[in-house]
Amino acid sequence: MAAAAVSHLRRGHALLYLLQRRCFSSAAAAAPLAAAAAARRLLSTSVESGASSTGQDYKPPLFDPFRVATLASSAPPLESPPIEEPPNDAPPPEEASAAAAPEKDVVACQHELEGMKAAVESLRCREESPHEKEAWRLLGRSIVNYCGTAVGTVAANDPSTASQMLNYDQVFIRDFVPSAIAFLLKGEGDIVKNFLLHTLQLQSWEKTVDCYSPGQGLMPASFKVRSIPLDGNSEAFEEVLDPDFGESAIGRVAPVDSGLWWIILLRAYGKITGDYALQDRVDVQTGIRLILNLCLSDGFDMFPTLLVTDGSCMIDRRMGIHGHPLEIQSLFYSALRCAREMVSINDGSNNLIRAINNRLSALSFHIREYYWVDMKKINEIYRYKTEEYSHDAINKFNIYPEQIPYWLADWIPEKGGYLIGNLQPAHMDFRFFSLGNLWAIVSSLATQRQAEGILNLIEAKWDDIVANMPLKICYPALEYEEWRIITGSDPKNTPWSYHNGGSWPTLLWQFTLACIKMGRRDLAQRAVEVAEKRLSDDKWPEYYDTRTGRFIGKQSRLYQTWTIAGYLSSKMLLDCPELASILTCEEDLELLEGCACSLNKSARTKCSRRAARSQVLV
Ligand code: GLC
Repeated sequence: MAAAAVSHLRRGHALLYLLQRRCFSSAAAAAPLAAAAAARRLLSTSVESGASSTGQDYKPPLFDPFRVATLASSAPPLESPPIEEPPNDAPPPEEASAAAAPEKDVVACQHELEGMKAAVESLRCREESPHEKEAWRLLGRSIVNYCGTAVGTVAANDPSTASQMLNYDQVFIRDFVPSAIAFLLKGEGDIVKNFLLHTLQLQSWEKTVDCYSPGQGLMPASFKVRSIPLDGNSEAFEEVLDPDFGESAIGRVAPVDSGLWWIILLRAYGKITGDYALQDRVDVQTGIRLILNLCLSDGFDMFPTLLVTDGSCMIDRRMGIHGHPLEIQSLFYSALRCAREMVSINDGSNNLIRAINNRLSALSFHIREYYWVDMKKINEIYRYKTEEYSHDAINKFNIYPEQIPYWLADWIPEKGGYLIGNLQPAHMDFRFFSLGNLWAIVSSLATQRQAEGILNLIEAKWDDIVANMPLKICYPALEYEEWRIITGSDPKNTPWSYHNGGSWPTLLWQFTLACIKMGRRDLAQRAVEVAEKRLSDDKWPEYYDTRTGRFIGKQSRLYQTWTIAGYLSSKMLLDCPELASILTCEEDLELLEGCACSLNKSARTKCSRRAARSQVLV
């Protein structure tokens, strides 16, 4: 009986869920659109108290099928009014700073936008190489349409694996980002706008894993456009968007990075197109806040870093990156910086801005202080005392020096350093993860000196990190017992393959961004030349294997879209480096000054941040 009820409930949900994603003609959609916008406005007013530092966390309403049913036939709200009234339910501002990102004056913004438009125009007119022409043709072929409009790109378009597509025929949120950047740099903003709005639609609907619902605000890992028979009619079909929140993904991993990428892309779209009306829309503002609420809500954490399960990002399989992996922290920091620029300022958003500022400040201190390693720091760890019980312990996380892996002592260069992959009680993961380090540079999570140090390390260790194909996803690979225990004997993640030390050309555009930000275009240029020698001949693979990236990956898809788009984005960014600013953030000195904790005033206990041994310098 209970089982029957559950299955009935599931079917009911599935039906509603498909209904919600139907594609209707615009006339039929008008009324439900208003209802959907009204519902979002409702949500958006109550979300204000979310993420507050006072602990009054916003609780999204429980799933209510009847309420959803009244909204069910909503086509995507591609048009909605900007916010008209500020919500007035926020508690009075507290003493801590709630300053939003410093506003640029209108003239400076206008000037910046004109510069961007001119740069985009020059990219449109420039002569492309045969490789670029081929890449554009392939990127065009990967576009996915929904109800007649382009909404994304498939992950891969590999005819040789057509019978085993798994989910590579879906639009992945993270994979679409380099496609979006390529389109934006080419002046084609519509597909990006559609993507942002359609994925936003998917954010707030019901999703379950064995009848358990993950938190509202989660963005899907991917989505697919499906054709379903129209009301039992076998002749007529309609299109629906079918998202995957991890409930069908291999390993059922939650895509924590999706929402972060969505925010980062939203800001880039606004900066390059000047269409700030999109981010001001009430539904978009609500979407931002739902993601932030999920990330900023209180839990059991002792650290300002986001606590996640294994495989919650680009590395979406078991690889020992549970806890506080760098990749998530760098994207989190970047998304917070971007969101702070976009959250509409009104009385109700004070708490949210304050929570963002506090988190940014604590997060940057934590990563800069505790994740950074260079020759000097490793030597310090090597001589650490352990079992210290006190507020001013030097070895705060009780790291046993024996953890320093045998390869690191020889590998760490004299000049330079990097941010380690993960930090937990009594555990430092010393592997070098490219994406996290690159986004720490791009977002200014790393100090200027650390950012320079990371690029110095990549240059010094070129043969390990770039070699025959930029860039290694992580270095080194897990081998032997470590591979068996940490990956669970994963045959796809054997040493120097796939996520376990494989080389991923999609990391090239992110490397290019970091190099441009640090004034090291020469390095990016060198990496692009390495990639260019092979990508087209090898049919644009997803990843490469072996210690030096010589072979096309064992199970690599060909014609992988983010390989293609990443290459195009790198080429265009190198030609117009000023456009990198749509994705980068500069150091915010005010964030470094503030310390939100009240311990400063207490004589009894010292603020550990102030007492930190190596005050991190810009
Ligand atoms: C693989 C990657 C993941 C990517 C997906 C689609 O699973 O690990 O990051 O999003 O393929 O390309």
